Amino acid sequence: MQGRLLGTRIGFVGLGAMGGPLAGRLLYRNQVFGTNRTRSKASALIDQGLIWRDTPREVAEAADVVFSMVADDAALAAVASGPDGILAGLQPGALYVEMSTVSPGASRELSRRVRSAGATMVDAPVSGGVPAAEAGTLAIMVGGTEAGYRAAEALLLRLGSTVTHVGGNGQGLLLDLAINVSTAAQLVAFHEGVMLAAHGGIDPTVTARAMTEFANRPAMAASGPSPAIDVPGRAGCDAARMRKGIRLALETARASGLQLPVAAALDRALGNAHHDITGRYQWVTRA
Ligand SMILES: NC(=O)c1ccc[n+]([C@@H]2O[C@H](COP(=O)([O-])OP(=O)(O)OC[C@H]3O[C@@H](n4cnc5c(N)ncnc54)[C@H](OP(=O)(O)O)[C@@H]3O)[C@@H](O)[C@H]2O)c1
Repeated sequence: MQGRLLGTRIGFVGLGAMGGPLAGRLLYRNQVFGTNRTRSKASALIDQGLIWRDTPREVAEAADVVFSMVADDAALAAVASGPDGILAGLQPGALYVEMSTVSPGASRELSRRVRSAGATMVDAPVSGGVPAAEAGTLAIMVGGTEAGYRAAEALLLRLGSTVTHVGGNGQGLLLDLAINVSTAAQLVAFHEGVMLAAHGGIDPTVTARAMTEFANRPAMAASGPSPAIDVPGRAGCDAARMRKGIRLALETARASGLQLPVAAALDRALGNAHHDITGRYQWVTRA
C-alpha cells in the first residue's frame, strides 16, 4: 500500500454535501470512480471527469483506494454490505478510508469484515464543514493500524490541513465525537449567554466581542465576524447533524458505563430546532 499516489485508482461512495467536494479534490490528480444513491447529484463531478459506476461494489472493484462519506450508520450499512456493497467488491490489498460520522462500534465491526476480505480499513471522520471540504482544510482524525494510516496519509493531506493518527480502528471516530461534545457545548452556551445579556439590554455585538476577544477567550473564539450576529448565507453547521454526534457520543459513553450530563442536556437542547446552529441566536431570542 505504500508509496502509491499518482496512478492510484480511487473509488468514492457518497457524493453529498461533503463527499462531493472531497471527490472533486481527489479528481485533480487521480482517476476517480464514484457512485451516489441519487445519481443526479453527481452530474457536475461527472462533467469534471469522475467515472460513474452504478453500485458501491463496482466502485470498489475498480479502485485501489475506496473512500466513503455517507450520512449515518444506516447509510453506511447500505453502501458497505449486501451483494452490491463495497465489501463485495473490495480487492485484496485494497485500502478503505471510511470518512462518515458513524458509531465507533459499527465502524470497528466493519473494519473486521474488511480485514477478513484481505483489505485494510481506517476510519477518518472530519471536523469542519462544506467550505473546509472545498478548500481542503478539514481536520481529519484517523483510526486504524499504523500501516493503514501511512497508506492513507498522503491522500488525506489533500483533503485536510490536519491529519492525526489517533489509535486503532474506531478511535478517530471516538475523538470526533468528543470534539462534537465540546463544540456543541461551547456554541450553545455562547448563544445562550448572548441571549441572556440581550434580554437585559446589552448590545449582542458587545457580548459577542466580550466572549470571544476580551473576556476568557474561550476555545471557540474565532477570527472574523461572530456567527451570533452575522448568520452565514448557508448552513455552516446543522443542528440535527450536531445532535446526531451528541447522541452517538452518549451511546458510546453509556456502553462504557459513563455519564455525560452536559451532552445529555445538549441532546435535549438541540432537539428543539432543526436549522443552522450558527443561527441559534435568532432562535433563542424568539423563544
Ligand atoms: N456537512 C457538514 O458540515 C459535516 C461536517 C462534518 C462531518 N459531516 C459528516 O459527513 C457525513 C456526510 O454528510 P453530508 O453533509 O455530506 O450529508 P449529505 O449531503 O446529506 O450526504 C449524505 C450522503 O449519504 C448518502 N446516503 C444517505 N442515506 C443513504 C442510504 N440509505 N443509502 C445510500 N446512501 C445514503 C446520500 O445519498 P443521496 O445523495 O442519495 O441522499 C449522500 O451521498 C455525515 O456523516 C456527517 O455527519 C458533515
